[in-house]
Amino acid sequence: MNTGGKVIKCRAAVSWEAHKPLCIEEIEVAPPKSHEVRIKILASGVCGTDTSALSTVFHAKFPVILGHEAVGIVESVGEGVTRVKMGDKVIPLFIPQCGFCRGCKSPNSNLCEKADLSGNSGLMDDETSRFTCKGKPIYHFMCTSTFTEYTVVSEICCVKVDDRAPNEVCLIGCGFATGYGAAINTAKVTSGSTCAVFGLGGVGLSTIVGCKSAGATRIIGIGSHKDKYPKAIELGATECISPKDYEKPIQEVICDITNGGVDYSFECAGRIETMMSAFESTYCGSGVTVVLGVTSPTDRLSFSPFMLITGRSLKGSVFGGWTGEDVPKLVTDYMNKKINVDHLVSKTLPLDKINDAFDLLRSGKGVRSIVLF
Ligand SMILES: NC(=O)c1ccc[n+]([C@@H]2O[C@H](COP(=O)([O-])OP(=O)(O)OC[C@H]3O[C@@H](n4cnc5c(N)ncnc54)[C@H](O)[C@@H]3O)[C@@H](O)[C@H]2O)c1
Ligand SMILES: [Zn+2]
Ligand SMILES: [Zn+2]
Repeated sequence: MNTGGKVIKCRAAVSWEAHKPLCIEEIEVAPPKSHEVRIKILASGVCGTDTSALSTVFHAKFPVILGHEAVGIVESVGEGVTRVKMGDKVIPLFIPQCGFCRGCKSPNSNLCEKADLSGNSGLMDDETSRFTCKGKPIYHFMCTSTFTEYTVVSEICCVKVDDRAPNEVCLIGCGFATGYGAAINTAKVTSGSTCAVFGLGGVGLSTIVGCKSAGATRIIGIGSHKDKYPKAIELGATECISPKDYEKPIQEVICDITNGGVDYSFECAGRIETMMSAFESTYCGSGVTVVLGVTSPTDRLSFSPFMLITGRSLKGSVFGGWTGEDVPKLVTDYMNKKINVDHLVSKTLPLDKINDAFDLLRSGKGVRSIVLF
């Protein structure tokens, strides 16, 4: 049945309110307007940022359809769309690529100015939503909203990938690309270096993969859930430690066992304390810390500038420094078995079990759950 140009009724996980379980509802998805694309979602991972949005650590407008790490098929396109066509397999981009703004034009940035990371808009470019439920408009999330059978995104917020790519490549839409790229693109981890990765969720484990592929020879995983250690070791960590096993701060332990600190540290837990621990775990004369975790916008880091003066640096990374153009290349690398994301998938579940995926993520059990549509 050709659904192009028509409103589609489908199922979606609607977050009516913060801190509450998602509700499976029938929603209406309007046809894509000019330069927009309607996508039939095939699979969507549940990322730490989705749980952070639900708990209001990361700002989103409610009611909202969360989800931003997905793969799908273009169902129809609006007027003027040139980047993709009906039937293409696509990955939605939570960091758009308009190609014209200062961020897009700079070789030093992957942050397009059209991104809606602070959740201030939650709307399409014409300041309306394409979703309604029970007569109410539902906000979009991070330009993507993928916990729905159909979504509408701007043309600049999706990219065509290999049609043969399996559902697991949804993780290239956020978690895997974020961690892997933070090591390779942002920190530029060097061969023979030592690394410390704080937080062993989907992002942290992908950071370990990036550190290993960049040639780091010692990779310390820091996490309190020891059931994740075997996976961290399988992916490249050379040892794993828990802050709970030591009386002194974990950064002191790391400095002790690495002759003064690691070369690179990564914060993938989303906590201010671990950001400080990561920063203080690096070698004083040259250490590089990359912050990936998201905390509340009111949170503040506090440290002596002397930490920087002596040679450490502190950076942040969004989507691993990749642009939309890099995403099909990452999928090709996956198809050619140069990278693997399958190890990160700890559970697949249907849409109506999506709250189980949120519970698993919040409890620190498993790595990535993928909702299959
Ligand atoms: N920068 C980006 O572009 C980007 C992209 C995706 C996710 N994120 C953020 O990255 C963070 C991780 O995301 P995720 O999907 O892997 O989430 P996750 O919940 O799977 O992983 C976080 C891990 O940190 C662990 N942790 C919590 N406190 C800790 C502590 N004190 N010490 C060590 N480990 C601790 C948790 O047990 C969990 O395993 C989140 O804050 C998320 O919002 C950022
Ligand atoms: Zn741009
Ligand atoms: Zn994410």
